[in-house]
Amino acid sequence: MRKNVVVAIDGYSSCGKSTLAKALAKKLGFIYIDSGAMYRAVTLYFIRNQVDMTDQSAIADALQHIELNFHSRDYQSHITLNGEEVSDEIRLMPVSENVSEVSAIKLVRVEMVKQQQRMGKSKNIVMDGRDIGTAVFEDAQVKFFMTADPKIRAERRFKELERKGNNQVTLEEVFENLAHRDYADTTRKESPLIRAEDAIILDNTDITEQEQLDFALDKVTPFLHA
Ligand code: DC
Repeated sequence: MRKNVVVAIDGYSSCGKSTLAKALAKKLGFIYIDSGAMYRAVTLYFIRNQVDMTDQSAIADALQHIELNFHSRDYQSHITLNGEEVSDEIRLMPVSENVSEVSAIKLVRVEMVKQQQRMGKSKNIVMDGRDIGTAVFEDAQVKFFMTADPKIRAERRFKELERKGNNQVTLEEVFENLAHRDYADTTRKESPLIRAEDAIILDNTDITEQEQLDFALDKVTPFLHA
């Protein structure tokens, strides 16, 4: 039985996983790790360096030249790719459009899972992603599986992009991208997105951020002093 507490949050794209994960980490003093940011940063590297995604040795070689690090400021997670801050660039459409393909590559997943498991070895963490409760930390004390109405999810992501000044993309394009990623994430061969049997379902279509935080805290609190 692990001594440190791990909270695993999995679910569909843009259904508020990171919002909940950050709020939980802040409230509990845990470290927040955004595993999707790691796949996104690898994707950015592959795009920039035109890595052939069908060439296994090119992929293995590229992975050796990628160093990812998280820097937490005010519980907002910032990621660096070989020392360069890429937190904003990895959210833009070129990365969003290619990340499903990259995250379906076995070599990529093996390397990311290894790094994620290292990060959660001894510290209390909240990690969000697609396979955290099923593959990365099967023994996590608390697992959430998040979902929300696809239209609401697209609107939330669209507003987030707008807030960041990205006006080139339409709501329909965001919706299509989410639908595509949901399909790819749930049907891929390597660690598809599925609910772990012991994961608690959290549908946040009609609840506020505060309500979902309270719900989650209620589930995690019993493990804090166990
Ligand atoms: O959480 P996100 O939307 O930023 O994740 C980007 C992509 O990375 C998502 O489409 C699927 C993939 N991903 C994954 O395969 N496994 C994870 N643990 C996290 C993300």
